[in-house]
Amino acid sequence: MRHILEKLYSKNSLTREELLYLLDKLEEDGRDYLYSLAYNTTLKTYGNRIFVRGLLEFTNYCKNNCKYCGLRRDNKKIERYRLSKEEILASLEEGNKLGYKTFVLQGGEDPYYTDEILIDIVKTIKSKYKDVAVTLSIGERSRGSYEKLYQAGVDRFLLRHETATKNLYHSLHEGMSLEKRMECLLNLKEIGYQVGAGFLVGLPGESKESLVDNLLFLKRLQPAMVGIGPLISHPDTPLRGFNNGSVETTLKMISLTRLLLPNALIPATTALNTLSKEGLERGILAGANVVMLNLSPVEIRRKYELYKNKEITDAHQIRKIEDRVKKVNFQVDMGRGDHIKYNRRVNNV
Ligand code: 5AD
Ligand code: SF4
Repeated sequence: MRHILEKLYSKNSLTREELLYLLDKLEEDGRDYLYSLAYNTTLKTYGNRIFVRGLLEFTNYCKNNCKYCGLRRDNKKIERYRLSKEEILASLEEGNKLGYKTFVLQGGEDPYYTDEILIDIVKTIKSKYKDVAVTLSIGERSRGSYEKLYQAGVDRFLLRHETATKNLYHSLHEGMSLEKRMECLLNLKEIGYQVGAGFLVGLPGESKESLVDNLLFLKRLQPAMVGIGPLISHPDTPLRGFNNGSVETTLKMISLTRLLLPNALIPATTALNTLSKEGLERGILAGANVVMLNLSPVEIRRKYELYKNKEITDAHQIRKIEDRVKKVNFQVDMGRGDHIKYNRRVNNV
């Protein structure tokens, strides 16, 4: 097994059979070796820096019905909210004062935010803050819409593929399709966005094969960013009562992704931090190099309930994050944290 890990480390590639073999055999011993190879790979590509992003969850309305998610349209138990342009700008100004250079605007798929509304918001942000990167995470839209938003100045787009296994995808996402998801990701890439994909660990019906499907899908797509988090069972969804995803499996997937895509920006996700007290530190030791801190107004935070008991780290707590990452020999980088292969876009709006 060691020689397969060494091959992965030097070549950043493995076959399906080799990946399956690894997942079968990765016990404690090999696991620590895997983590250390992934950690060393991060050091070689981006150095010992963890990039921080300011996350604003601006709407919890969603027209989709993903079986695992608390924001699904059939969940009548959550109180829905939308932030106005003014509220969004006020939250981002708070982030700007704290020195954030990347803002992630995330929401459910909410048709209220038309292209026109979003373009106006994005243009205002980009003209107000000349040197920030704007990331959208607002789900599937038409190619034309993605193009217009890119032209308005959006730099990056997060759209997890959730699972690359067709049957599994279709069993969890009523009315959606994996083909459409992939088409969106390809469109975003072609347009020029730094694209984030990613998947959930611990979905009911997951297998070693489906985990490998995700890894091979990522290797093919070559996204700039990859978000991987454990499923956290939400009591007001059809997945109530299911086991949560495993922290160890999540860490293994982070490591394998780091080794397959050495230049990827990989967050230690909120879900990982929710299930593990030292999720950030363990994520970094397994190959993560991004953390997203919350800029949403305090009153609405709890309502963005993808799952319960979300471990929210407030954007003000940057010192605390600094102390934590020091323990694993990392330091906080407040810069834009662009992917190595992307030149940063000049703001000419
Ligand atoms: N547990 C963990 N992650 C979840 N997400 C949605 N619901 C859950 C849950 N119950 C993730 C999805 C989505 C991202 C914003 O949050 O992967 O893409
Ligand atoms: Fe909506 Fe995203 Fe939740 Fe699916 S995962 S229901 S698209 S917010």
